[in-house]
Amino acid sequence: MLEQAEVKSIDAILNDAQGQRGMLIAVLQKVQEKVGYLPEDAMQMISDRLELSFSQVYGVASFYKHFHFKPRGKKIVKVCMGTACHVRGAKAVLNELESKLGVKEGETTADRSVTLETVGCVGCCALAPVLTVNDQDLYGELTPKMVDDIIGTVRSEHGTHV
Ligand code: FES
Repeated sequence: MLEQAEVKSIDAILNDAQGQRGMLIAVLQKVQEKVGYLPEDAMQMISDRLELSFSQVYGVASFYKHFHFKPRGKKIVKVCMGTACHVRGAKAVLNELESKLGVKEGETTADRSVTLETVGCVGCCALAPVLTVNDQDLYGELTPKMVDDIIGTVRSEHGTHV
């Protein structure tokens, strides 16, 4: 269920795009920026105002990996599962994160602080295995033992890098 403030924000976004189907992706983008993901109610509003069916809206949104349909955490932790990272133990790091956070890959912690995801090569193979936080901070040469500290830092704020 959308909060009143979210409905207002979405309304404002849609006021600029009323009936303009070509604006769908831009609208989806803006709504996700505001709400953090694309709730069903938001997609229904988009469908009504852009005069598209709900399945057209959902069809386009689900085509792009960038759009999300479930709430995400404040921090998005992505463990690289590219070849170099995989070979150097990324799976063990991922397993440890899953166990310590109490979520599986693709899920968000109940307090919405962290979403755990995997990603392909992020281009830092020399530091494998690596993970990123909010696509900004990079942690490299990971071992499962480092996971506790990393979670602590991630939950407090962005911190140490490599
Ligand atoms: S495979 Fe992980 S950074 Fe390249």
